[in-house]
Amino acid sequence: MDVETFEQLLSPTGQLLLAEVAERAGVESDLGLGTRLRKTYAPGLVAAAVTQNHLRGKALAKFGADAARMYFTHDALEQSTRMSVAEHRAARLAATGSTSVVDLGCGIGGDLVAFARAGLHVRGVEIDPLRAAMASANLRVLDLDGDICCQDARDAPIGPDEVAFIDPARRDGRGRTFSTSDLQPPWDWVRHLLEGPAVAKLMPGLAHNAVPHGVEAEWVSDRGSLVEACLWGAPFATATRRATVLPSGAGLVATREPVAVADVGPYLYEPDDAVIRSGLVSEMAATIGGWLPDPHIAYVASNDAHQTPLARGFRIVDELPFREKPLKAALQARRVGTLTIKKRGVDIVPDELIRRLKLKGPHTATVIMTRVLGDGRAYLVERL
Ligand SMILES: C[S@@+](CC[C@H](N)C(=O)[O-])C[C@H]1O[C@@H](n2cnc3c(N)ncnc32)[C@H](O)[C@@H]1O
Repeated sequence: MDVETFEQLLSPTGQLLLAEVAERAGVESDLGLGTRLRKTYAPGLVAAAVTQNHLRGKALAKFGADAARMYFTHDALEQSTRMSVAEHRAARLAATGSTSVVDLGCGIGGDLVAFARAGLHVRGVEIDPLRAAMASANLRVLDLDGDICCQDARDAPIGPDEVAFIDPARRDGRGRTFSTSDLQPPWDWVRHLLEGPAVAKLMPGLAHNAVPHGVEAEWVSDRGSLVEACLWGAPFATATRRATVLPSGAGLVATREPVAVADVGPYLYEPDDAVIRSGLVSEMAATIGGWLPDPHIAYVASNDAHQTPLARGFRIVDELPFREKPLKAALQARRVGTLTIKKRGVDIVPDELIRRLKLKGPHTATVIMTRVLGDGRAYLVERL
């Protein structure tokens, strides 16, 4: 869609069309609906309305009920921050006493909406005219104030009271890159801003040694998925590394306190990916009085059962043989037909092993295969 078509979509005629598409999609076939609407409306506008309606449906997962009123392009929706994560960041920024934020590369305004709702004065800068127009419309339809300017963020002035927020695009558009060299605006420019009052959203695969000195890196997961590494510029940094687990908001910061390394206890914990990526497994172990069965593997052992948002807990029901043949015999003796294997630090491909075991039986089971004090071990476990 081009900006002109988007403006037509925002006009009273476009809004009537969009409302009709929303009402009839799923009732009439796409083909039938399109053919009928093209008798009244321009084909380009019909196509834009149908696409917008489809994208609003897709956006529900990220934006909840707001999605039904917002505007998206396919790629801008893919790149936008899910609202739970944007809200967490915005609340943290507001709690620093900051009052204004300029979003340098605001896309369709996912983060911008959260900042505005957290009470911050917002401004967005976006190089793509259609996205800039959509960000502006999104603030308006959600009754939020804010100005959007279409320009290269590197040329945009930053006010003395403004915090700069940057969520750079990955050049491949899919956000899967691990390399800071693929970012737009470029990483060097972002890094320079982080020396002052700035916050940047980066890919969760960001290497620890890429985090600039004095900057805090916060790895964030949401409902079990690791979603980003958020870098807090020097004035906001309160730790070197942090893990935040949403929706609970439970967090950990690096303390570098060593924890014991010893054989497993009755309970094993699989830390959340935000805890693992931030390198805070020892810190997580300390929160439950636990220890590490292996200093290089992200499992935590404990004597007690804990419910913690920072990890998934398991009770060890039994130790099973690690080698394939006796493991098969042990599982057959328990009449296990459906097996889940979790593994860390051992050279096993769970799906292949499960296929080779050819299990038959009425019971389901979960086995953790890992290394403990240097040896391969297999544990039959139950979720806490
Ligand atoms: C990952 S998206 C931002 C998503 C946004 N945080 C959200 O939640 O909707 C990055 C945006 O930066 C924009 N961008 C890239 N380079 C830019 C530049 N030099 N100046 C301004 N915007 C730029 C891209 O067009 C893209 O829309």
